[in-house]
Amino acid sequence: MAGGGIAVQSAGGRNYEGGLTGFVITTCLVAAMGGLLFGYDLGISGGVTSMEHFLKKFFPSVYKKQHNDSDKENAYCKFDSQLLTLFTSSLYLAALIACFFASVVTRVYGRKASMSFGGFAFLIGAIINGVASNIIMLIVGRLLLGVGVGFANQSVPVFLSEMAPAKVRGALNIGFQMAITIGILIANLVNFGTVKISGGWGWRVSLALAAVPAVMMTVGSFLLPDTPNSILERGHTLKARNMLAKIRGTVNVDREFQDLYEATEAAKRVEHPWRNILQPKYRPQLVCCILIPFFQQLTGINVIMFYAPVLFKTIGFGDDASLMSAVISGGVNVVATAVSIYCVDKFGRRILFLQGGMQMLISQILVGVMIALKFGLNGTAKLSKADADVILFLICLYVAAFAWSWGPLGWLVPSEICPLEIRSAAQAINVSVNMLFTFIIAQVFLTMLCHMKFGLFFFFAGFVVIMTIFVFLFVPETKNVPIEEMGSVWKNHWFWCKYCQDY
Ligand code: BGC
Repeated sequence: MAGGGIAVQSAGGRNYEGGLTGFVITTCLVAAMGGLLFGYDLGISGGVTSMEHFLKKFFPSVYKKQHNDSDKENAYCKFDSQLLTLFTSSLYLAALIACFFASVVTRVYGRKASMSFGGFAFLIGAIINGVASNIIMLIVGRLLLGVGVGFANQSVPVFLSEMAPAKVRGALNIGFQMAITIGILIANLVNFGTVKISGGWGWRVSLALAAVPAVMMTVGSFLLPDTPNSILERGHTLKARNMLAKIRGTVNVDREFQDLYEATEAAKRVEHPWRNILQPKYRPQLVCCILIPFFQQLTGINVIMFYAPVLFKTIGFGDDASLMSAVISGGVNVVATAVSIYCVDKFGRRILFLQGGMQMLISQILVGVMIALKFGLNGTAKLSKADADVILFLICLYVAAFAWSWGPLGWLVPSEICPLEIRSAAQAINVSVNMLFTFIIAQVFLTMLCHMKFGLFFFFAGFVVIMTIFVFLFVPETKNVPIEEMGSVWKNHWFWCKYCQDY
């Protein structure tokens, strides 16, 4: 997910021959489609659920509540509906379940097969959503999109990491995250445009447009070859070697092929990756692969990604202003992710985690205080334009901090700390914990907003304190450490060293 599967395999500082060929570039484009699709889904639902015509058609009770002035004392609860949140969250539940099937298909039938299937599920989901005439169609469409997310996010990052020359693998990892943020921004822009379509069917365009990258990914996956690793995994040694030569654009691939062969053989010898990862010596990796995705979601980022327009509307922004604000925070998300690409190997992961954590903490507390003071306990006060601008500014500060810290690092760090023998199991844990908490937050956010009001921001701020302390104490620096030497990082760690004597 989110660049998550990119296993930074055996780069080890070795220089293989061959570089960026047309194949690799096409691969990146298809992979970018996978990222865009995921981002588009993340970003589209918030704007759509804030559109009047959409609410009137599918969620009339929410629509009524919004327009009923006697409900004023309950402004924080304007959107509180389990069915409405199910529209957003169902996708992540389906993705969570699909992940497990996808990992089998990806291994047994190859990365291509998973990508084609994922793209196809996306396409059907987007079409059903675009023509939906009732809530069942809407949810079925979302479930299919979720299946697409599960398959694409399992296979695309693996495909990418196996196709890419070792030296650009790290950058590609965050590149995938970048594609996600661009997808979110495109979705925000599309919503901003479609809400203006007269006749009130703009939401259909918003939902159906996901079909464009879906078609590109499906077609792309048919055109691309499977990876040498996958061909080798399925026992075709000669074919795998020829493919490697083809994608690297040189016949001198002996060294890389030898390494690849050994790594595949070693991985085949691992009979019980799940039992393996439970051994005490892998405790640091296991703990990180559970807690990092958990904390990433508990930053509260998806409250903004899913519900920014709803949140802005709740605190009194108009329709246009709400969608425009989502476009602004979406733009900040893209730019700050680029900052991360630049900084991650220069300054290291820990600095970004710690700085990002502090900035998120301060901005969340200030947003909570501003909403408490200006919007009031019951949300009866009216925000001035200046107050609204300050809140939007603080939210952008928060999004920027996430986008150069927990956003990309939440995927990069778990993928680079695990040795080959536990990598697939660790990756599956990482992806599923992430999906599970994405689902939970998407499902309960509007109810939490209704009951906790502005306190919601303090709730997430509390988690940011805990995760920042966790990083400070338990996450070692992995900048510039070759994968094969990652063991030394744990051995030299004040706490984890006791688990890692036999590395
Ligand atoms: C997270 C997503 C989030 C996105 C925002 C990703 O790293 O996993 O849940 O919506 O960043 O850019």
